[in-house]
Amino acid sequence: MQAVTSTLSGNIRVIVIDNPPVNATSQAVRAGLLQAMEQAAGDDDTRAIVIACAGATFVAGADIKEFGKPPLDPHLSQVIHAIESSAKPVVAAIHGSALGGGLELALGCHYRVVDARARLGLPESTLGIIPGAGGIPRLLRLAGVEKALDMAAGGKPIGAAEALEAGLADASAQEDVRAAAIAYAQRLLAEGQGARRTRELPVPACEPQLFEAARARFQVSHRGQLAPQACVDVAMCSVASSFEDSVAYGRERFRELVASPQAQALRHAFFAERIATKPAGLPAEDAAPVRKAGVVGAGTMGTGIAMCFLNAGIPVVLVEQNEKVLASSVETIGKTYSNDVAKGRITEATQRARSGALTPTQQYEPLCDCDLVVEAVFEDMGVKRQVLASIEENLRPDALIATNTSFLDIDALAADLRRPENVVGMHFFSPAHIMKLLENVRGARSSPRALATIQALGKRLGKVAVMVGVSDGFVGNRMLARRTRECYFMLEEGALPEQVDRVLCEFGFPMGQFQLNDLAGLDVAWRNRQSRLDRLSPREVACNILDEIVAEGRLGQKTGAGFYTYDTQRKRSVDPAISELIVRNAERRGIRRREISDGEILERCLYAMINEGALILEEGVASRPEDIDTIWLNGYGFPRFRGGPMFHADQIGAARLCERIRHYASLAGEQYWTPAPLLLAQARDGGGFYPR
Ligand code: CAA
Repeated sequence: MQAVTSTLSGNIRVIVIDNPPVNATSQAVRAGLLQAMEQAAGDDDTRAIVIACAGATFVAGADIKEFGKPPLDPHLSQVIHAIESSAKPVVAAIHGSALGGGLELALGCHYRVVDARARLGLPESTLGIIPGAGGIPRLLRLAGVEKALDMAAGGKPIGAAEALEAGLADASAQEDVRAAAIAYAQRLLAEGQGARRTRELPVPACEPQLFEAARARFQVSHRGQLAPQACVDVAMCSVASSFEDSVAYGRERFRELVASPQAQALRHAFFAERIATKPAGLPAEDAAPVRKAGVVGAGTMGTGIAMCFLNAGIPVVLVEQNEKVLASSVETIGKTYSNDVAKGRITEATQRARSGALTPTQQYEPLCDCDLVVEAVFEDMGVKRQVLASIEENLRPDALIATNTSFLDIDALAADLRRPENVVGMHFFSPAHIMKLLENVRGARSSPRALATIQALGKRLGKVAVMVGVSDGFVGNRMLARRTRECYFMLEEGALPEQVDRVLCEFGFPMGQFQLNDLAGLDVAWRNRQSRLDRLSPREVACNILDEIVAEGRLGQKTGAGFYTYDTQRKRSVDPAISELIVRNAERRGIRRREISDGEILERCLYAMINEGALILEEGVASRPEDIDTIWLNGYGFPRFRGGPMFHADQIGAARLCERIRHYASLAGEQYWTPAPLLLAQARDGGGFYPR
């Protein structure tokens, strides 16, 4: 199969790129395009050219797998230069996504016709690189400097309507964009319009302060990342220098960034997410359809989960026996959708459809025609067992039951049911309708059909769904528990919350351990601790700083005070009363506080998690390191530019990890710090979690 074909339609030459799955600009595509352009130039019957794509999308960018390998000729910028230099007008026909090198290619065409559902963007910065083929100097000539900065440094694609408004697209088509582009080319010929080269357009005027403002903005929104700042540099150069010089500068910066550790980590994150969301042996064809869902329990989690289904167009029966709780849940859902309409996120018709698809009830019977029911009641084995039995009694024999438990044993929950093969876990994260991560849990007796169904469902709900095994806290919370333990131990040993949080934020987490606790509610953390006291070590039980803070009625952001105090705008400040409480607590318990370095804080937080991750892999609770990295990137704010905990572990090296873990064992005991056998084996053999 040829990656690029070219046919004549009347006097319009239609060049089609066909390089599944996403028409990436691989070497065969670049060479094919160059050849097709040469043919078109020399062919007298060709008066205009349309560049279109086969399959589901326009060119979605460079082939990311080729990054880091020696570049093969021709370079994309050479191909784009040839297209732009064409004496005959060239029209891009864009459907699906025109991303990265794909949008750069389209910007090199003289005109762009877009499908009304198309997405256009320069997401390179999300991969730690920048557009390397003239994307920024061309985009700012078409759409202005501000828009170019937003798209390139911000990395978010825009829709067809916005592209038209910004001057990036010339026309849009409701259907058959290729036919519309051919018609557009014919009109150009009829009107005597020729090539319109983007590089020849004047650079729009802009205030010099705009760059510094953008730099500051991206320093906040993309903290610690190099690529967005490099985009600002290239935009500045594009305004100050010739087109050719700015393209050359962009290429130089691209080459420097593509080899950087950040780009390697971000590329890893891209592929890890695609691997993790496709567990082995669960083909999508085996998934049962979910036409109607049930949710039992209308607290915060149940309400959020119900919205996940409604947002995906799946009708929901919401069961809650407490009338007040049910009414409050329906009100929350209604308010969320009204707010979405007010903010222009959804139309009134969508609001009506979603609200109309919700059936609130106090009875279990209406669950009878649901294909899947999610249980989201109080986290208590006895309560959950009873609720699951009531659900099963009212369900069709083939319908599935998913529990949203965050740490109870799913196998024990399923044990008393008649059809344990239909029972799975779906661990949503709060707020469920917003958080991307979904830990799907395979029970010992869950059927492959049940598992394939929840994986397919996760995708339909727009989640990053990762399959995990039964374990206390599954993958994410189990690793977090290790970090949490160390954070509290460090408070009694000598650190303060603001120091621990600063270190975690400087590493790249959006917030630190104690900010997170305050956000989620200290009563939640306290209840969780109380329910687990029998499983905690004597030192963990004795480490009661949280108990003392909660006893003062400080429950976190919701009460205006927790580890920090908050004003009415939820602005956080350090509270000396908390520092005193921590120091007094240590004195009373005879602990001599010492200075704890930032380096120690970071190591103890990260290495405790990594070691647990290694155990999780050995036990098969996670099947692959990619699963763990994906969970931490999407559910816990692990900085994407560091690739995830297991990728980061490889950067540190197993030998160093084992050495530091032994060091902390010498201080705190092997009970907390024993290198996982997998790490020891890696240290011995020189391996890592990923092949080098
Ligand atoms: N290079 C290589 N493979 C790619 C790819 C790319 N640019 N984009 C997608 N793929 C692969 C995926 O890995 C996946 O492969 P498997 O089926 O083997 O897992 C397959 O294509 C389908 O991808 P998705 O599962 O993501 O499909 P989707 O329909 O959900 O999304 C998409 C499609 C919106 C195009 C999405 O894949 C995407 O955002 N891709 C990345 C786009 C991007 O970042 N482009 C810029 C690249 S950098 C660049 O272009 C700079 C330059 O020129 C030098």
